Amino acid sequence: MRSLKFSVSAALMGCALLAQAGGNVTEGQEKAAACGGCHGEDGNGSAPIFPKLAGQHPSYLVKQLMDFKTQKRVDPTMNAMAEPLSEDDMQDIAAFYATQKLTTESGNPNTTGKNLYLAGNPTAGVPACSGCHSPAASGNPQAVFPKLHGQYSAYVEKTLHDFKAAERGNDMNAMMRTVAAKLGEAEISAVAEYVSTLNH
Ligand code: HEC
Ligand code: HEC
Repeated sequence: MRSLKFSVSAALMGCALLAQAGGNVTEGQEKAAACGGCHGEDGNGSAPIFPKLAGQHPSYLVKQLMDFKTQKRVDPTMNAMAEPLSEDDMQDIAAFYATQKLTTESGNPNTTGKNLYLAGNPTAGVPACSGCHSPAASGNPQAVFPKLHGQYSAYVEKTLHDFKAAERGNDMNAMMRTVAAKLGEAEISAVAEYVSTLNH
């Protein structure tokens, strides 16, 4: 029992250290003061159009902030917010949000969305989302594949539409544009609701 407790707390400490690698959580919290109005003080988004940042992989958050700063990802508000940030600021802010607890969403974990997520749509040539984003939608920090679980479905839907219309084009090798181009409208709303209901 004792050794189990020890290994669990050691593992948790390991996670905290990993989340902080490259960034300072305390400084990140201060630097994120201007972000809370939209993304929530704890990074859980003050409305469904503002993506949750809580618990997200720092590698993905830093990439997005860099992409907003260099206008590779276009959103006038976020382009302006990222403009003054240095890479150190981005690392600190990302470390802060990564340590925040992601809230859960209620919704319908529908089978259309679940099947698409886990098996893709072979007829339309859609690969399984889980192949990159993992079966639990917890992403892959090394490959910079974002977590999707618990995200607001309204935001997931919007961003899938943006990829489909190539209005968001900051995905390496057009990975998401290629996938989203093959998705139907019903599939987009179904899979968006499915991932938002996944627990983490
Ligand atoms: C006025 C509202 C507002 C403020 C303030 C704001 N954001 Fe955002 N942010 C947004 C919106 C809206 C989006 C989604 C843009 C889109 O649809 O592509 C976004 C997207 C993001 C994303 C991408 C999330 C993802 O899942 O891809 C990151 C990271 C981010 N913001 C970080 C920040 C940081 C850091 C700050 C403070 C320095 C900040 N934001 C301030 C509105 C805001
Ligand atoms: C080949 C790998 C791959 C597959 C398959 C894939 N994705 Fe992605 N996805 C990515 C990458 C890479 C990004 C991050 C792009 C970037 O850097 O901005 C991403 C980003 C996203 C985002 C944006 C997250 C955010 O916070 O803004 C959503 C939503 C998403 N994917 C949903 C899906 C869904 C739904 C499927 C299945 C229909 C899917 N993805 C299949 C690689 C993949």
